Amino acid sequence: MNYEDYIADVPNFPEEGVTFRDITPLMADGPAFRSALKDIADFARDKEVDVIVGPEARGFIVGCPVAYELEIGFVPARKKGKLPRPTKTIDYGLEYGKSTLQIHEDAIKPGQRVLIVDDLLATGGTIKATIDLVESFGAEVVGAAFLIELEEFAARDKISDYDVFTILKY
Ligand code: PRP
Ligand code: ADE
Repeated sequence: MNYEDYIADVPNFPEEGVTFRDITPLMADGPAFRSALKDIADFARDKEVDVIVGPEARGFIVGCPVAYELEIGFVPARKKGKLPRPTKTIDYGLEYGKSTLQIHEDAIKPGQRVLIVDDLLATGGTIKATIDLVESFGAEVVGAAFLIELEEFAARDKISDYDVFTILKY
């Protein structure tokens, strides 16, 4: 499957100088989307993953169907102020701006094996923050999987201790 055909490149979005890699055409194509999700599930299958964590919002779109395929649970890492019960919180930087992620305090148990799933790896700010947040629960991050990796940011250098899987590289 040539996944690149299903990614729309949008220059200067959301700000000047950023080329936005839009996954919505991939999501809209049943066979292509399913194939990409199965590739991530296959990466995870022998890792004895207990739960998938996905950062809001595109991490929900990719992470939830992978959890369904693996027959395990999904825990959302949400942007600030969205979760209704007590949370653990982390602040971080992005390719364009800053953000905060929160996970419900009772959502992850110490010792659980966690796979983090998101659509795209750019600076690595989001994945590093999500890893730190997950590890603050005493859980183990057994890998991180993405549809797209933007190699110019060398984010893998920040997370070289982790097993990182990406389908498409730019
Ligand atoms: C995007 C993307 C990743 C992150 C990657 O999310 O979905 O989560 O940026 O960039 P990084 O590697 O530099 O951290 P964004 O925060 O824009 O939120 P969205 O999914 O709600 O659009
Ligand atoms: N998230 C961070 N950088 C991005 C990019 N260039 N395209 C799409 N999502 C992103």
